[in-house]
Amino acid sequence: MPRTSEGTLTGSAPGLTTGLTPFIEQARNQGQLYIRQPWQFYSDDNHRAWRTLYERMVPRWEKYANERFLEGLAALSLSPDRVPKLEDVNRFLSPLTGFRARAVSGYVPAYVFFDCLRNRQFPTTITIRSGGKLDYLPEPDIFHDIAGHVPMHTDQAFADTLVRFGQCARTAAEIVAGIRNPEVRVQRMTSIIRGMARFFWFTVEFGLMRTGLGLRAYGSGLLSSFGEIEYAITSPDVQRYPIRMEWVINQCFEIDHYQPLLFVVSGFDHLYSLADELEHWVRTGRLDNTAPGEPGIREADLSSFLQATLS
Ligand SMILES: [Fe+2]
Repeated sequence: MPRTSEGTLTGSAPGLTTGLTPFIEQARNQGQLYIRQPWQFYSDDNHRAWRTLYERMVPRWEKYANERFLEGLAALSLSPDRVPKLEDVNRFLSPLTGFRARAVSGYVPAYVFFDCLRNRQFPTTITIRSGGKLDYLPEPDIFHDIAGHVPMHTDQAFADTLVRFGQCARTAAEIVAGIRNPEVRVQRMTSIIRGMARFFWFTVEFGLMRTGLGLRAYGSGLLSSFGEIEYAITSPDVQRYPIRMEWVINQCFEIDHYQPLLFVVSGFDHLYSLADELEHWVRTGRLDNTAPGEPGIREADLSSFLQATLS
């Protein structure tokens, strides 16, 4: 919809559809990361997309999601019919673990993202995918962020794991601050960010857990994907291995297709112990030479860490 500025509507509404929301793109271009969620601008199509995504996930969540996720979903009282208001989500979430969803305009550079987690804030996309593209979206949207991630943030052990992971980033910044040679500094930082991004990917985004009921998903990339949550747990084409830190931090991944390799944890305490171990590995230099390859590290990710070393 033509929108002359936030709040000025001039025509039929495209609402807050991913890629079609000029005030968000404008905020992003101006370097404004944190924004508000103008909930009244969600169109009927946006709410319909949410409803369709939510409705079709329910039977898959019941079958493949871990128990804590299902409890979190109930605790948040998310509406199956309407795109949620972040303030409503936070009203339920915050008293449980101190976490809050915070609206952002787009890509959050790695250090900023991890540091938000350390402070129990979750950078949250507020746009929603178009109704014509329900199955595949390369970037996050509010369904992925709120329905996929946030129910897990109601669990104390999981929330503490995210905070511990955020502390790894702080530790990394402190270590790199002590390196004088600028080339070594950048090489070291790139390697550590790559290792941390892989850890995050194979746990928080695509993690599987062994439970008394069999394998269950706790990773949000799986919990927000109608097709992949079933594929991840049932397909013979997926390799599933007990998680090992040395594998995870050196294992490339690609984001544009279903994951062929997933790692399994034995519980949320195990997951926390891994984040703890990761911090120890950062501190002792074991992420200083991670295997090259995906993910590629963006300039913004690197500079966000280097900026943090100055503060
Ligand atoms: Fe995510």
